Amino acid sequence: MSLKDLPKLELHLHIEGAAPPAFIRGLAQEKSVDISRVFKEDGSYDFRDFVHFLSVYEAATSVLKTPDDYARLTTAVLEESAAHGVIYTEMFISPDFCGGSDVAAWREYLHAMQEAAARAEAKDGIVMRGIVTCIRHFGPEKAKASALCAAETAGDWITGFGIGGDEGKGKLTDFAWSFDLAREAGLQLTAHAGEWGGPASVREAVDGIGVVRVGHGVRAIEDLALVDQLAESGVTLEVCPGSNIVLGLYPKWDRHPIQALRERGVKVTVSTDDPPFFHTTMTREYEQLERAFGWGAEDFLEISRNALDAAFCDGDTKAKLAERLKDHPA
Ligand code: HPA
Ligand code: ZN
Repeated sequence: MSLKDLPKLELHLHIEGAAPPAFIRGLAQEKSVDISRVFKEDGSYDFRDFVHFLSVYEAATSVLKTPDDYARLTTAVLEESAAHGVIYTEMFISPDFCGGSDVAAWREYLHAMQEAAARAEAKDGIVMRGIVTCIRHFGPEKAKASALCAAETAGDWITGFGIGGDEGKGKLTDFAWSFDLAREAGLQLTAHAGEWGGPASVREAVDGIGVVRVGHGVRAIEDLALVDQLAESGVTLEVCPGSNIVLGLYPKWDRHPIQALRERGVKVTVSTDDPPFFHTTMTREYEQLERAFGWGAEDFLEISRNALDAAFCDGDTKAKLAERLKDHPA
């Protein structure tokens, strides 16, 4: 079986970051918004480094103005994911971008995305869940409004709460109120850490906030005691190797620590983060992992099982997904 057809589970995908450039350009034209600075001449997204990436990301996102825009985005993203064999995907969704973290507006955006997801599931079999995400560089007060939106809509579709944005800004523990509220509402927790921050940022996420998954987390490799702690506690890393390479964290695929983390017992998974920005797809991630580390069907099945174990969905959904993995034995 080709790597493209292998069934995949993706745990770390920013919904706006998955928008095809042509989709964003089309919306900009429809709404007469000038976002030409977002694109290179060849039509791809244009950014120099991580902080510039975040600013281009927000400019691109500015053309998404209504619940229907987010419904269309959801449809486009799920179609692309399904074409790469993804059977289950968790997407980061920010109430800040969806109605300015007003609960009533957020409910309308959510309803539109859920309807689009149900249509995609009926058509392509892809299952989606949402993780509400606050944005670190917007600060702890804005995060509280996002956490309130998350708590109000927690259930079997909004199943998690997390934080993205600029890891260089503030301390993760400044956001503890929001994470506590989300936890009390029954949401499972993840945080971006150990991408731009070192091992201390991963400890802050795991010990300070109590997350069960870490977004990236790869720089834990710089502290082997921490690596052992992650392995023993079963904290799962949402690793996005192609994103790390494009943003210059590691110079080449075979220097990426995903294999070393795995060999030392850490549960790792594979995701694309913001695929068109990083010129990647789930198929491309798999192809590069095959090339760099010789991973084959058995290795990819282990990665999928890790993702299934760590997924923020209910047991019935997991059991159905497990059956679909079994249909494709290594
Ligand atoms: N990292 C951190 N924050 C983000 C990202 C990302 O890749 N995409 C959107 N917000
Ligand atoms: Zn991310």
